[in-house]
Amino acid sequence: MEVLGIDIGGSGIKGAIVNTKTGELVTERHRIPTPQPATPENVAATLKKLVNHFQWKGKAGSGFPTPLSHGKCQSGGNLHETWKGTQVDKLFHHTTGLDFTVINDADAAALAEMNFGAGKDKKGLVAVITIGTGIGSGLFFNGKLIPNTELGHVTYNNDAFEKYAADSIRKKEDLSYTKWGKRLHKYFKHVELILSPDLFIIGGGASKKLHKFKDQINIKTPIIPAENKNEAGIIGAAMAAAEGIK
Ligand code: BGC
Repeated sequence: MEVLGIDIGGSGIKGAIVNTKTGELVTERHRIPTPQPATPENVAATLKKLVNHFQWKGKAGSGFPTPLSHGKCQSGGNLHETWKGTQVDKLFHHTTGLDFTVINDADAAALAEMNFGAGKDKKGLVAVITIGTGIGSGLFFNGKLIPNTELGHVTYNNDAFEKYAADSIRKKEDLSYTKWGKRLHKYFKHVELILSPDLFIIGGGASKKLHKFKDQINIKTPIIPAENKNEAGIIGAAMAAAEGIK
């Protein structure tokens, strides 16, 4: 099945038509900068531009970078506070006229990774942790997604762990990979204690740099990098629409 997959992020809104059986993009990726402020009206208008670019009439799926429950935004997070309480899938359906599925961006990237990337055929409890602007998570048991986990929000010093250990914090505080790796060690040690997973897969911008900080993380659970890189969010969003995951 071919589906328009979209990844909404803090800096860019990217899309492509995806073959959901093979996980391959059947068109070039098209990217439009995220409008500022990233309010529901502005983002929905940008989404319409993206749909028009592909002249798409079929199903569409979008990854969304905030906590969600059944397509409803629970907190504006890194986008804009006015999203809280918005039924995001309905808004996108009204704006574009398309049959729209919306899932959390980390769940989307993790879905692609588990089906076509580093998580393929991995059984047991697998936690895909995306480390970029924030920290997101996609949790799987025997290949099935347990949606809407927010493992970047376990707390550290009365704040979300992502405010201490995300890649954006490494950049902002100009941390060495050793120092940042030590922060990530605390993070993974904590999540390991909570979940006792069989495997961690690192996604997001940090997946390419895993070799630079992996030595700092001393835990029992194996940690491997994601393979799908930039496209994972788009592919997984399309898969969620094809499979009717919410
Ligand atoms: C949000 C998550 C999101 C992650 C990565 C976090 O701040 O709460 O929903 O998956 O950032 O974008």
